Amino acid sequence: MNHPYAAGALARTSAATDVSAPAYVKHARLKEWVGSIAALTKPDRIVWADGSQEEYDRLCAELVAAGTLRKLNPAKRPNSYLALSDPGDVARVEDRTYICSARREDAGPTNNWTAPAEMRGTLNGLFDGCMRGRTMYVIPFSMGPLGSDIAHIGVEISDSAYVVANMRIMTRMGKAVFDVLGEDGAFVPCVHSVGKPLAAGEKDVAWPCNPTKYIVHFPETQEIWSYGSGYGGNALLGKKCFALRIASNMGRDEAKSGGTGWLAEHMLILGVTSPQGHKYHVAAAFPSACGKTNFAMLIPPAGFDGWKVETIGDDIAWIKPKDGKLYAINPEAGFFGVAPGTGRKTNPNAIDTLNANVLFTNVALTDDGDVWWEGLGEPPAHLIDWQGKDWTPADGKAGRKAAHPNSRFTAPAAQCPSIDPGWNDVKGVAIDAFIFGGRRSTTVPLVTEARSWQEGVYMAATMGSETTAAQAGATGIVRRDPFAMLPFCGYHMADYFKHWLDLGAKMQASGATLPKIYCVNWFRTDDQGKFVWPGYGENMRVLAWIIERIDGQGRGQENVFGITPRYEDLHWKGIDFGRADYERITSIDKSAWRQELKLHDELFDKLAERLPSSLLEVRRKLEKSLEG
Ligand code: OXD
Ligand code: MN
Repeated sequence: MNHPYAAGALARTSAATDVSAPAYVKHARLKEWVGSIAALTKPDRIVWADGSQEEYDRLCAELVAAGTLRKLNPAKRPNSYLALSDPGDVARVEDRTYICSARREDAGPTNNWTAPAEMRGTLNGLFDGCMRGRTMYVIPFSMGPLGSDIAHIGVEISDSAYVVANMRIMTRMGKAVFDVLGEDGAFVPCVHSVGKPLAAGEKDVAWPCNPTKYIVHFPETQEIWSYGSGYGGNALLGKKCFALRIASNMGRDEAKSGGTGWLAEHMLILGVTSPQGHKYHVAAAFPSACGKTNFAMLIPPAGFDGWKVETIGDDIAWIKPKDGKLYAINPEAGFFGVAPGTGRKTNPNAIDTLNANVLFTNVALTDDGDVWWEGLGEPPAHLIDWQGKDWTPADGKAGRKAAHPNSRFTAPAAQCPSIDPGWNDVKGVAIDAFIFGGRRSTTVPLVTEARSWQEGVYMAATMGSETTAAQAGATGIVRRDPFAMLPFCGYHMADYFKHWLDLGAKMQASGATLPKIYCVNWFRTDDQGKFVWPGYGENMRVLAWIIERIDGQGRGQENVFGITPRYEDLHWKGIDFGRADYERITSIDKSAWRQELKLHDELFDKLAERLPSSLLEVRRKLEKSLEG
């Protein structure tokens, strides 16, 4: 991977509270903060990460020596590694995630809350001496292209070299961040510890962590503190913690202080070029593990000559109003994708992204030093599974997975064959449509266009989805997941709905054309529980309809919820998908929808105190149209 700023030496100090920052760090407040965290956590040494290739290679070598990483066969997977985590540290821990706003009501009923002073007391106890025997890394990173006016900067302090290596792929990380920060630039301070100090002479384990876990956000002071986990979104604090929970507060706070505000969303961003050569950009929100990465990297199927889809981001979008439009960047620089289910058939672009320079976590190891997971193809005769145990296809038949269902790849976005030439553009891309999609085996039709911004916000707010392995806990249960932001909205969910409504109203008042809003569902099943819609690349049929609608060409009909395409309004060239199947995934069962509205009420009741009345108005209209 070639960072433009990949140069410079690793700075090391020996004394714990002597932060001895490299000369290029000119930010006094930042150095003071690093000193204060070092005084609290008492590491053996401090390393300022510079983001260079040399540093990355050295850290990976150290992690190999420590048993955390295993170097994969360079002939098969150059410069790539496999980590196997502690079996108790495999996913985000939503029940241990807190929004500690000054007032409980500002966190709202969908977030865990503890009074900031009490939480600070708890954290001080936990972090006191928690880095003993370890190295404390200072990791400067930019979320978004360096210097973009949509981007923001963070600094993560972590005692995990695995985190440093992942952050180098997932963010613009290293020395050049200090050029943007200067002497007094704003940054979000992020403190992370695996919570496993080492006594003198104590041997480390391959995946240090602690059964006690806290993922804590202080929105007023824009701080993040994470303790006890080394995994994914719990530990790579630029991702869910900063880019969603803290950034959603930043975007709303800007509106509170008189601006239009901005949006931090759990959305992929893609570019679509029509056969006429017109390019559009779409941002789409899906709950965890609903095929977001696949959709972001979609390859148009046969029959879609002249159409092109390009990838800007696969998970998060930061969206700011500018010149009467909404401009979006992908704040990340890499993909932290779910491995199982990713295969040559389902997502060839992802597979080709993973050829080299990848960190894999919790997938299986082949006998020739490569990786394998369910969905990659035929299983080899023997593997080492994600827990380090022997595995054969017979184990698979008996239901034992070789890769953990939430196993991941961390890969540089620049390696993706479908990466959009504008993905790194400081200006961002103008968004033409928002798509919201849940995983619903019943009830919700294939695609619906909202007739107004309010109706679109209602659709997104009431989205439901069946849970998957990305969340700890039971899978397959329908939960309301407004805007796919349930675990990621850093403040009261009803205020978040209001922020969307207000932003739309302000933009409309200033003459802007807002993106159209769509609701999709790829996951309707038949009586045998089998998916009816083929999904993956075939989702292009829906995407093309959306683009044609924006273009003013696409036809559809109005029904109770909005505008939907009739069978003849979609392109069917290259697929054998009949009217009966189409009916199965688009039919609207009025009695199921009356039930569904009751489920919407459960969410609305929970948020009642602050729920914007215009959503209740949409709700009333829907109910009325279901009558008869
Ligand atoms: C993710 C998630 O890791 O949404 O992207 O859980
Ligand atoms: Mn996600």
